[in-house]
Amino acid sequence: MKRFLIIGATSAIAIATARLWLKQNKQSEFFLVARNEEKLTQTKMDLETRGAPKVITYTMDVNNMAQHEIMLEQCVNSLKQIDIVLIAHGTLPDQQLCEQNVDVTLKEFETNGLSVIVLLIVLANLMKQQHFGQIAVISSVAADRGRPSNYLYGAAKAAVTTFCEGLRARLYKHQVGLTIIKPGFVDTPMTQGLPLPKLMVVRPEKIANYIVKGVKANKSVIYAPWFWFFIMYIIRHIPQWLFKRMKL
Ligand SMILES: NC(=O)c1ccc[n+]([C@@H]2O[C@H](COP(=O)([O-])OP(=O)(O)OC[C@H]3O[C@@H](n4cnc5c(N)ncnc54)[C@H](OP(=O)(O)O)[C@@H]3O)[C@@H](O)[C@H]2O)c1
Repeated sequence: MKRFLIIGATSAIAIATARLWLKQNKQSEFFLVARNEEKLTQTKMDLETRGAPKVITYTMDVNNMAQHEIMLEQCVNSLKQIDIVLIAHGTLPDQQLCEQNVDVTLKEFETNGLSVIVLLIVLANLMKQQHFGQIAVISSVAADRGRPSNYLYGAAKAAVTTFCEGLRARLYKHQVGLTIIKPGFVDTPMTQGLPLPKLMVVRPEKIANYIVKGVKANKSVIYAPWFWFFIMYIIRHIPQWLFKRMKL
């Protein structure tokens, strides 16, 4: 039996991942956390219809950080132990609006960066005590370099990625693994209506496949799909004098 805690459980990528975990192990139990109660109930029903023996839901806005510890306590009370955690919540900020509005910028940084870090602080202590388990955190290829089109989002994801690097090394000696997932363009509500290059956009199920395999193999970092590793390698190595003149 595997027990999963999923934060941002109503995200398209999280739903696809939970379905895949369940498909691979019908005894999977889930503790699902999200802020939209209606979507959360739909997700619970979806997993139950697919055969999940136990699905518990918990409504929480991740920016209500005082709730994190209470939520984790409830999760442990319900599941008794946590084998795998997936942190999947996020928003795609309007970069131009962030450039004009400090409140929006702070809110977006809080959702995509601080809330994840704060959550990981309490979660890490819990997993350390357990002495086993795997944490999967969805970052983004945007974390690899600050581009003019989305550098607030990129900065928040980079903060999470760097924090996770240190945390991974800390948790290693406690038999707890940490996998960072860096998706490229994914066809989800987050990217709806954006003018993305069609050939490079993948379905959430494809990312789910990468997450499930990567967590099982205790990978440190996964680019999803794999070709983003090479794209970002090139983007990271563009010299500053040229990079600042480019529209990326
Ligand atoms: N789609 C892409 O191209 C792409 C690329 C790279 C990385 N990612 C990352 O992948 C992850 C999953 O995103 P997705 O593409 O699956 O998008 P999605 O379907 O739009 O899911 C985003 C989820 O985050 C939740 N969320 C946002 N703010 C929250 C808050 N304050 N408290 C609690 N939940 C909150 C949303 O809940 P509500 O329904 O309540 O709003 C929603 O369930 C995110 O971390 C995203 O940054 C996505």
